[in-house]
Amino acid sequence: MKVVLAFSGASGQIYGLKILEILRNLNVEVHTIVSDAAKLTMEVEGIEFSDIEKLSFRIYSNEDIGACLSSGSFCHNGMIIAPCSIKTASSIAYGITDTLISRAADVTLKERRPLVLLIRETPLHTNHLRTLLRLSEVGAIVMPPVPAFYIKPKSLEDIVEYTACRAISLLGVDVEHYVWNDKNKDKN
Ligand SMILES: Cc1cc2nc3c(=O)[nH]c(=O)nc-3n(C[C@H](O)[C@H](O)[C@H](O)COP(=O)(O)O)c2cc1C
Repeated sequence: MKVVLAFSGASGQIYGLKILEILRNLNVEVHTIVSDAAKLTMEVEGIEFSDIEKLSFRIYSNEDIGACLSSGSFCHNGMIIAPCSIKTASSIAYGITDTLISRAADVTLKERRPLVLLIRETPLHTNHLRTLLRLSEVGAIVMPPVPAFYIKPKSLEDIVEYTACRAISLLGVDVEHYVWNDKNKDKN
């Protein structure tokens, strides 16, 4: 399987890293795009960009608008943006495809492949909500990374891993081993 994973400049870079780690463990080929604002946020949040580079099958600059991910002829099983900023979400909602992330997302939608957006902002004003509605109407899966406390998380790792698995499963990747393993089976 092949997945496109993008990091934009919202808080929660750890979600993207966890998704990448899990996909790598599952031998999924991950094509990764990182925006400049995501790199800045990684520094603030203590995430090493070099870890993203090491785990990715291939890494792309967000400015590389001519990369293979810009074309529908590059076949993949879906795209996750984690975390997804309001700026990137708005670009996708309104068809402004001037970065590789927004172009690859637009192509994912036009090819009717799954696009999962871990949009992180709070609180939300009316234009944010309109943007989310537009995204949903064109087929994107709007998935704010909201913790589920019924899993009785013992750590931040539990919270992040659960959300990461939920996002990955939306692409049809089997994450049963992670979510419904012995550690968690009583919680679901
Ligand atoms: C530490 C930090 C945290 C941020 N958190 C958020 C956030 O949670 N949500 C958001 O939409 N933007 C957030 N931003 C602002 C975005 O990084 C900014 O809007 C940027 O232009 C997004 O660009 P990109 O979508 O191309 O990555 C944050 C910025 C920094 C530096």
